[in-house]
Amino acid sequence: MNVRLTHLRADHLTAPLALRRTTPRLSWRLEAEGAPASAVAHRVRIHRAIPDGTSEMVHDTGWVDSPDGTSQPDGFTGLPGEEYRWQVTVRTADGGETTAESGFGIGLSEWGAPWAEPVQQPVLEDGPLQLGPEAFGAAASAGPPGDRLHPPRHLRQSFALPARPVRARLRITSQGVHQPSVNGAPVGDGVLAPGYESYQHAISVMTHDVTAQLAPGENVLGVVLGDGWYAGRISILGRSAQYGDLLRASWRLEVDLPDGTRMLITPDDSVTSARGPIDWSDIFIGERHDARSAIPGWDAPGFDDSGWNACALRTVEVPLRPFIGEPITRVAELPVQQILTTPSGDTVLDFGQVLAGRVRMTVRGRRGQVVRLEHAEVVDSTGEFLDNILGVNKDQADEYVLSGAPEGETWEPLFTFHGFRYVKLIGYPGAPRPEDFAAVVIANDLEQTASFRSSDPRLDRLVQNTIWSQRSNFLAVPTDCPQRERAGWTGDLQIFAPTAATLMGVASFLERWLENLRTDQSVRDGVVPIIVPMPPAMDEVDHGEDSVLDIRDAAGWSDAVTIAPWELYRHYGDPRFLSDNLAAMTAWVEHQTKDAAVTLPPRLRDAPLSERQRANHALLWNGRMNFGDWLAPSTLASGEDEFEAMMIAPKLTAELTGPLFQLRSLDLLAAASDELGDDAEATRRRAQAAEVRRAFAEEYLADDGRIIPDMQGIYVLALAFDAVPADRKATVVDRLVELIHTAGDHLDTGFVSVPFLLDVLWENGHAELARTLLHQDSAPSWLYEVDHGATTIWEAWHAVHEDGTVDRVSMNHYAFGCVVDWIMRRQAGIDLVAPGYARWRIAPDLDGRLDHCAAHVDTPSGRLAVEWSRDRDAASLTITVPPGTSGTVVVPDGWRLDGESEHGAGTRTLTIARESTAS
Ligand code: BGC
Repeated sequence: MNVRLTHLRADHLTAPLALRRTTPRLSWRLEAEGAPASAVAHRVRIHRAIPDGTSEMVHDTGWVDSPDGTSQPDGFTGLPGEEYRWQVTVRTADGGETTAESGFGIGLSEWGAPWAEPVQQPVLEDGPLQLGPEAFGAAASAGPPGDRLHPPRHLRQSFALPARPVRARLRITSQGVHQPSVNGAPVGDGVLAPGYESYQHAISVMTHDVTAQLAPGENVLGVVLGDGWYAGRISILGRSAQYGDLLRASWRLEVDLPDGTRMLITPDDSVTSARGPIDWSDIFIGERHDARSAIPGWDAPGFDDSGWNACALRTVEVPLRPFIGEPITRVAELPVQQILTTPSGDTVLDFGQVLAGRVRMTVRGRRGQVVRLEHAEVVDSTGEFLDNILGVNKDQADEYVLSGAPEGETWEPLFTFHGFRYVKLIGYPGAPRPEDFAAVVIANDLEQTASFRSSDPRLDRLVQNTIWSQRSNFLAVPTDCPQRERAGWTGDLQIFAPTAATLMGVASFLERWLENLRTDQSVRDGVVPIIVPMPPAMDEVDHGEDSVLDIRDAAGWSDAVTIAPWELYRHYGDPRFLSDNLAAMTAWVEHQTKDAAVTLPPRLRDAPLSERQRANHALLWNGRMNFGDWLAPSTLASGEDEFEAMMIAPKLTAELTGPLFQLRSLDLLAAASDELGDDAEATRRRAQAAEVRRAFAEEYLADDGRIIPDMQGIYVLALAFDAVPADRKATVVDRLVELIHTAGDHLDTGFVSVPFLLDVLWENGHAELARTLLHQDSAPSWLYEVDHGATTIWEAWHAVHEDGTVDRVSMNHYAFGCVVDWIMRRQAGIDLVAPGYARWRIAPDLDGRLDHCAAHVDTPSGRLAVEWSRDRDAASLTITVPPGTSGTVVVPDGWRLDGESEHGAGTRTLTIARESTAS
C-alpha cells in the first residue's frame, strides 16, 4: 500500500521559524493511494537543530496508540531562539510504518536590541475625531497629501562577515510597516510587515531565513519604513498617528558561522538613514513615487552613505512577541480585462474583479511626467468611473513620477493597498496596453480549504464572490471592507466565522486576532470592543448615551469573544482555542451579567414595573444601545437620509439582540466548559441561561408568538438561540414564515440574524422556503447581487439598483457571504458533527434545485469530498472520507440509500433511489 504523511504542521503552520508557544501542537495527515489506510499508533521524535546541520535528539514520545494525526508531545518544552526538526512515524493497521519530517523554531522571549529611529518629520495628526456624515462626504478633505505626509525612510546597516554563514536568521519589527532587504534583494515575500495589531500593548516580530543572502565580506541590511497602520490614516475615522508619530525599527540578525561562533547584528550607531524615491505613502490615501529620486545600490555593499543621517538609538517599552501565522504577501495577479474610455473621456482599466491590492504598471515616457491611478470598485449606470468610497483621507490614489528611462520603467507601490476593480488612469503617456498592468492581490497567505461546484453557475459565483471577499478582508486583521474602514469589526467576523473557517485555513490568522481581542478586552475590564484592534482615537469619540455613535461594546459584535474561539475549535479540533480564550469568554459573560443587573432599556426607565418585571429585566442584558439587527433591509427604506435610515434597525431591535446574544454567549461558555471538563461551570452557566430564557419569554414573547418589533431577524435569532419555549415554537415559526411571504419571499434579516435564517427555516419544517430564499433573485437576495454583476459580497443588497444606479457603499463586505457555510452544509451536504470533522454527516439536498454538485472541505485529517448527481428518481453520490474520521450519509425522507449509511475512510459511490420507485 502506498501511504504517506503530508501537511506536517506545528501550531497549524508549515515549518514556522518562530512560534509563540514553547509547547507546540504537532499535526499531520495520512494519505493513501488505493485502499484507505488507518493509523493505529504514532511516534514523534524531536531533535534540536544545530546550526552546522547536525542535530541532537531531545524528545521521543515513544509509540502512542492512537488513530489521531496530532501530538502535543508531553514533557517537551522548546527553548526560545532554538530550532527543531521533528519526525513523525505512523503505524498503520496493516503493520506498515511511514515517516515524515518537518521543523519548527521557538521565538525569542528576550529582545535585547535597541530601536533605530531615523531623522524624520513626525507624522501630522489629522483626520476627524468625530463620526458622522461630515467625515464621509464628497467635499470632506484634509488637504493635498503632499502638504501633509512625510516620506518613508530608508535605513542601512553595513557589516562584515568573516565567512559564509551556515545559518542566519533576521528577526525584525517596526513601529510602522517595514520592507527589509539584504544586499539589494528583498528579504522574504512579505508586504506591509508586521501587519496590524494593538501596537500600544505588543508588537510582533517577523523571522526570516537569510542564510543564502549573506556572503563573506561586506553585507548590507536595508530597511524601508513607512507609516502603515501605526502612524498612517486608519479605520473608520481615517485619522493618523493613533499609535505614534515617529517611525522606528528594531532587528536582530543572528549569523552562525562555520566555526560554531555566532555574530549578532543589532541596530548600533552605524545605522544611517535617508529619504528615498517615495514622497509619501499611506495605507488609505495612497503612495507617490518619484523615480527621479531613486538611490541605486543604497542597500548593497559599496554604497557611499556618508551623506546619510545617523539614526538615534531608542528603547521602546512595548513587549515584542513572535508573529504567528501567515504573513501578508502578493497572493495573486490579475490581468486587465478591458481598457474603457468612459463617456466623459476618462481612461479606465477594468480588472474584472473587485479585490484588495494595488496595480503594477509599466510605463515609458518623459522624465518628470506624472501618472496618477485612482481606484474604485464600480462604474456608474452610464459607465462613468464612480468613486464609491468618500470621506476624509479615503483617497485611494497613487502617483508615479517617471525617471524617463528609455527602456521603460515598472512600478508597484510599496506601503499601500486599495479596494478596487477599476482604475482611472491619468497622465499615462501614449496608449495604455493591457499587458502593461497587473492587479496585484495582497492578503495574508491563507490556504483555500474548500470548493463548491454545482449545476447552478449563479450559486458557484456566489461562493467565488465570498472567497474573494474573504481574501480581500483577511488582510492583517479580519476587516469589514478593504477600502472605507478596513477595521477589525468584531461583529462582521463572528457573523462570517463559520464560512471563513470552512473556506480557508484561518486557525493562526484568527488566533493572532483573538490575542489582540483579549488584550483590548483586558484593558477594558472584560468589555470586548466593537473593533479589534480598537483604534485609540475611536475611544475618544463621544456622542452621548443611547446613541449608536457612542457604542463601546455591542451585542453580536463583542460576542465574537465566545463565537470565534468556538468556531475555531469546531473546525480545527484544537482545544487550545477554548482554553486560551476561556478567561476572556468568562469575563465577557460576567460583564453582560453585571451590566444586565444595573441597566434598563430606555423605554422602561421611567415606567412603573412590577417586582417580577424588575427581577426579569435585571437578568436580561437589554439596557445598552447596540447595532441591533444592523442593516435589516426594510429599515433602510425609511428615514430622512441614508445615515438616519441606518440608525433605525438599532433603535428597533437593540433591546432584543442584547439578551439574545447574551444567551448565545452563555451557551457557548457552557459548551466550552463542557469540552474542557469543567462540569460545575457548565452546569452553572446552563442554569443561568435557563433563567435568562425564562425572563426573555416572560417579557418579550406574546402568547400568539409575536415578539415586538415583529421583524424577521428577531424571530430568527429567538429560534436559533433557543429562546422560544417548545410550546410556542410553532406559532413563532408561523409568524416568521408569514413575514417572509408578506415580503414576497424575501429575506428581511440584518447582519446578525442572516447567518441563521435558512437553518431556522430548514430545521422547522420549511426547507422549501429556505431554498426559495437562497435562489431568490430579486433584491434583497444573494443572487440579485450575482445577477447584477457582483464579483464580491456587497455591504448592501441593493448596492446596484434595478435601474443601474450605484450606491456609494462598500462592494466588498463579507458579512452576507455567511450563507456559504449553509450552502456547504445543506446543499452540497457536508456537515461537521464533531470537532475537527472527526465525525461528519453527509446529507445532499436531493429535493433541492441542484441536479449535481461537487464540493470538498479539507479537514484537519484530510479531504472530505462529495460529488452527487440526481435525476428524477435516482441519485448517485460519491464520497471521499479522510482517515481517522467517520460519519453517516443521510438522505431526505422519500429517498432510500442502497447499502450502509455509516462510513469511514476511503472513496465509494452510493446509489440512492426514490422510495416510491424503489423495488
Ligand atoms: C461597518 C460594518 C460594521 C458596522 C457597525 C460599519 O460602518 O462597515 O460592517 O460592523 O459599521 O455597525
